[in-house]
Amino acid sequence: KTVTIFSPATVANVNCGFDVLGFAIEGMGDIITLTKVPKNGIRITSITGATLPLEASKNVAGVAGLAMLEYLKVDFGFELQIKKGIPLGSGTGGSAASAAAVVFGINQFLENPLSLEELAYFGMKGEVVASGNEHADNVAPAIFGGFTLIPGYDPFEVVSLPTPANLYVTIIHPHLVINTKDAREILPKVVPLQHAIQQAGYLAGFVSGLYTSNYNLISRSLKDVLIEPYRKELLPLFDKAKNIALQTGALGFGISGSGPSMFALCKGEEIADAVSEKLNSLYQTSEIKIDTHVSKVSEKG
Ligand code: HSE
Repeated sequence: KTVTIFSPATVANVNCGFDVLGFAIEGMGDIITLTKVPKNGIRITSITGATLPLEASKNVAGVAGLAMLEYLKVDFGFELQIKKGIPLGSGTGGSAASAAAVVFGINQFLENPLSLEELAYFGMKGEVVASGNEHADNVAPAIFGGFTLIPGYDPFEVVSLPTPANLYVTIIHPHLVINTKDAREILPKVVPLQHAIQQAGYLAGFVSGLYTSNYNLISRSLKDVLIEPYRKELLPLFDKAKNIALQTGALGFGISGSGPSMFALCKGEEIADAVSEKLNSLYQTSEIKIDTHVSKVSEKG
């Protein structure tokens, strides 16, 4: 018996919600095939589209699957074939997508004993391999679709948020690799109270904007005073790209997850396409190669 799962790319943080906010995009993702086998555990039989460890205990998808199998105490196992559609180390949730697909697939085989929130919890167990830290802001939207918020990690909770009808994203992927672990190590451990207050306002404003489809409020709230000032130093032409995207009409622009991908959230596909075109022109004049991808922000479900 075999199931094949498509799992989407995701944008984590979304400027205003570091480690707690994320959304899934349509059309880009990993494809994982699971085959139930009598032997316990997880065996990865092939990975195409990227070079990654086949050993389950060293692979994000393997670690997430093993954690779930151990919890459910099942007396059989799975073989995995992984087709990576999301570039590694790009900041669009590649590791989370694979982990999400595996826990989702195992749950289907077992006739859905776990809730989506529980799946996000086990999916997150894989992230430790990729980044040294458990965060679910990519894995939760990969599993739920649309926007998700994590109000707390202990106890772990996921809230699915509404996606306004006309929301598109341009992903700008510079051909650089940024390791999430490194991108976390450069962040300060303590932040000024004034910044914490500002950022709380932005996150609350953004969530309110999603519920009311208030694109102006969404736009004013897509700001990051905590993380971006440090991480943007790793990204060539970040300030220029941001200015161009905002002048072209994007609602907001920022770093996707821990980078190097950047994202522009836009009202309507036309603006998203225009941002893509202008940023391709910008980077053509530099030594950095990029590719861009315009997608609709997915709806939940
Ligand atoms: N919230 C995470 C970070 C996402 O920015 O480090 C990357 O996995």
